[in-house]
Amino acid sequence: MNARSPGRHFLQIPGPTDVPGRVLRAISEPTIDHRGPAFANLGRSVLTGLKRVFRTGGPVIVFPASGTGAWEAALVNTLSPGDAVLMVRTGWFATLWSEMATRLGLEPIILDTDWRRGADPAAIEDSLRRDSGHRIRAVCVVHNETSTGSVSPIAAVRAAIDAAGHPALLLVDTISSLASIDYRHQDWGVDVTVAGSQKGLMLPPGLSFNAVSERAITSSREAKLARSYWDWRPMLEANAAFYFPYTPATNLLRGLQEALAMLEEEGLPNVFVRHDRHAAATRAAVQTWGQAGGVELQCQAPTDYSSSLTAIRLSEGHSADALRALILGRFNMSLGNGLGILKDRVFRVGHLGDFNDLSLIGALAGVEMGLKLAGVPCASGGVDAAMSVLAAFGDGPDADKP
Ligand SMILES: Cc1ncc(COP(=O)(O)O)c(C=O)c1O
Repeated sequence: MNARSPGRHFLQIPGPTDVPGRVLRAISEPTIDHRGPAFANLGRSVLTGLKRVFRTGGPVIVFPASGTGAWEAALVNTLSPGDAVLMVRTGWFATLWSEMATRLGLEPIILDTDWRRGADPAAIEDSLRRDSGHRIRAVCVVHNETSTGSVSPIAAVRAAIDAAGHPALLLVDTISSLASIDYRHQDWGVDVTVAGSQKGLMLPPGLSFNAVSERAITSSREAKLARSYWDWRPMLEANAAFYFPYTPATNLLRGLQEALAMLEEEGLPNVFVRHDRHAAATRAAVQTWGQAGGVELQCQAPTDYSSSLTAIRLSEGHSADALRALILGRFNMSLGNGLGILKDRVFRVGHLGDFNDLSLIGALAGVEMGLKLAGVPCASGGVDAAMSVLAAFGDGPDADKP
């Protein structure tokens, strides 16, 4: 590789995503006094704006942390040592969350999948019906499994919990779906929604979120897991006046204010259609390349296809990590790696955040050239297939889909 790579770097990992100039400029403004009068305006603006993105009338708690911190906050505020939690292992991130639950002294009951689809609500209902003593205190599901590109049907999971007549709380990770894929905390009866700043919200890493239901807040009063930094109580008290109990990430909050304004200007329904369009175009490319037998979609359930990323599986004998290294060196593009059992078998194309049609076509051209240079069997015409999908797709929520 040359010492300098001209042109812009293509950051096509499924988060962190490109941070738009407007957000970067907002973050670069001088830091303000987080206990002074000006801060309350910023606090009010982000705490109320977040409710619209999570689709909730209830509180959204903001931590200066990566998404992993918000996972921990969701568990320690609602549960007690030894509680059973039903965790659907849809991929690597669901696995990490279940390992955290074990380390915190919880007892995860695992519902496994083959990592090629989302959660199965019928299997959740069945597990809950068999738990007649109600030992299970929470059901944990990752909405968009970033390691596989598969989405789980959260409204159907809620319906399954209700059909089983089970009182378990519903905790959902939306770290790679919030502000990219339609999500409704309140309508879908979610008790805690976990999210992060560095994906659909178009911010750098460093903020994470818990949207909480009334039931979750009630449970937090009885929950006995040790907590201090992650405790919702001082947060909710200080947030009532739009302040924070400890120093917040002031400049990231200013960036969040700008990102929320950008999402409102575009309109969330348009944001979701844009992500659907880019995902459909990417799948069309993969399916065309795959006619030569070298690549296929990791997600095998069309109802569960992710709109924020596509995980692409290579045929036996080809290295996804070697392909990613080649594409980085030749085309200055970062692609997501395979995680856990998918290491070196899968690479992931992120198409979320501040992203448009031509950025997608550039990214897909880089993948198509890379596959050919790496000697992975790859039929030509993937980028053409993607362009046809983009041309046929309308660009608003009411537009016709092909
Ligand atoms: C679905 C999902 N959950 C959890 C995490 C962990 O978040 P973080 O790396 O911000 O701690 C990620 C990170 O990519 C993710 O995609």
